[in-house]
Amino acid sequence: STAEIQDYLKTAIEVAKEAGEVVREAFYKEKSLQTKSNYADLVTETDQAVEKQIINSFKEKYPTHKFIGEETVAGGHKTEWTDDPTWIIDPIDGTTNFVHQIPHTCVCIGLSIKKQMVVGVVYAPILNEMYTGAKGQGAFCNGERISTSQQNDLKQAIIYLEGGSSREPDVLRRKCNIYQKVLQTTRGTRTLGSAAMNMVNVAKGSGDAYVEYGLHIWDFAASGVILIEAGGSMIDPSGGPVDFLSRRVLCASSQPLADQLSTTIPEHIEMERD
Ligand code: IPD
Repeated sequence: STAEIQDYLKTAIEVAKEAGEVVREAFYKEKSLQTKSNYADLVTETDQAVEKQIINSFKEKYPTHKFIGEETVAGGHKTEWTDDPTWIIDPIDGTTNFVHQIPHTCVCIGLSIKKQMVVGVVYAPILNEMYTGAKGQGAFCNGERISTSQQNDLKQAIIYLEGGSSREPDVLRRKCNIYQKVLQTTRGTRTLGSAAMNMVNVAKGSGDAYVEYGLHIWDFAASGVILIEAGGSMIDPSGGPVDFLSRRVLCASSQPLADQLSTTIPEHIEMERD
């Protein structure tokens, strides 16, 4: 019900604020860091501590709910997404930015029910930006309504692209081809270093689209609700409906722009599914 969703959103905002405090406190300090799949895939003690804190807060309030958390999965738990209410958590999206003191770093908390995303909160504590969205209830930044640019001409659009954390030569070669084609056909490209920050920026009309191959459900589940509630479109890069476990996403300010970008991309990289 709407009242239940309102309650979930309110709780998610409180939990994200508490988590953001911890991120802010640690931001200018020395970090204790480890690598995950390769030397460019980072995790810090703060990512792990914040994820535990977030999960414990939700468990207290909603003992039957399930969780998918970036660092829990990195710790060896397979991503299991069921119809149960599930909190999908990235304690720090933009971990590399966090490590290098680049302010585009955020806490992402999404809620799915029957595998439909119903709540999304993205809190960027260094930038002081709290983005929120709930199904059918609009998207907001710091309480003000936000909406996409509604740009529908690729030639006038700004596109966010990410290098990502894969260092496999074949993936990088394909990404460079995509980069060249996107740059050729648009007004420009940008990289914020956080999937969620790219998406909330498209949601508020700061830039027009974003495409990435190689991310995970926790990087785009929460921000996806915000983008859609702001009037944007989110699809699989090859054109069909988005698939949260396929590790790929294409977002745009409007459906025509999403379709144009999808058909412009020379090849859609297949990633190993989550
Ligand atoms: C990463 C960031 C980055 C994107 C990667 C993500 P993390 O998330 O969103 O921008 O290119 O695909 O994995 O590891 O900082 O949570």
